[in-house]
Amino acid sequence: MKSKQFTPDEQAVLEDIMRSRRDVRGNRFTQQGVDSGVVDKILQSALYAPSVGYSQPWQFVVIRDHAIKQQVVDNFNLENEHARTQFSGVKEETYSKLKLDGILEAPVNIAVFYNQSNAPVLGQTSMPEVGEYSVVCAVQNMWLMARALNVGLGWVSILNPEKIKQTLNVPNQHKLVAYLCLGYVDEFYERPELELLKWEKAKSKDSVIHYEEFSQAE
Ligand SMILES: Cc1cc2nc3c(=O)[nH]c(=O)nc-3n(C[C@H](O)[C@H](O)[C@H](O)COP(=O)(O)O)c2cc1C
Repeated sequence: MKSKQFTPDEQAVLEDIMRSRRDVRGNRFTQQGVDSGVVDKILQSALYAPSVGYSQPWQFVVIRDHAIKQQVVDNFNLENEHARTQFSGVKEETYSKLKLDGILEAPVNIAVFYNQSNAPVLGQTSMPEVGEYSVVCAVQNMWLMARALNVGLGWVSILNPEKIKQTLNVPNQHKLVAYLCLGYVDEFYERPELELLKWEKAKSKDSVIHYEEFSQAE
């Protein structure tokens, strides 16, 4: 075998990075700056992602400017207020206490866009949405690379995507896939924060994995 074989120790490191990855919000980011070399490594990891037909349909906008972040946070605040009203009772009360972004607190924000091809793309002809899935693969690479570099990353989706495009001067055929907040943290939680706060429970392995056919076990 000519290609690189990973050792059990290296395999364990990858699993550890996956297990330790967390969504990080403004309550955990520190003031420590993230230098451009580190941001570049995270962006480079995105470019290693698989993409349908090797279309590489991604575009990234790196934002450090406070005034731009302020426009994004204004967008978030409006959308988040609207989101809160979609829950009721105890959930609404809990929702209003959740910190669901880190736009201003994170030194670096990265907006990730899908750039739809005008020509047919190999593999994308039956399920057009796989173009966007390719961009999500890139985001997951960034999330894992950031964790390996001990940088926290949070995904903010409570945003009006068209307004984000206006704010960042993004051409019309692009679609916002992810808005990411990156920075060093004072702590990575052991478990997802929404689990610690009892918003959601972890699903058991048995309840989500099926063999040969979908089983409807209660
Ligand atoms: C597509 C996507 C969108 C998300 N949007 C938000 C968001 O707007 N705000 C937020 O606080 N977390 C957001 N998250 C983070 C999830 O809440 C988080 O991944 C989940 O609670 C599990 O926690 P963990 O990532 O720390 O394991 C998003 C995650 C994904 C995959």
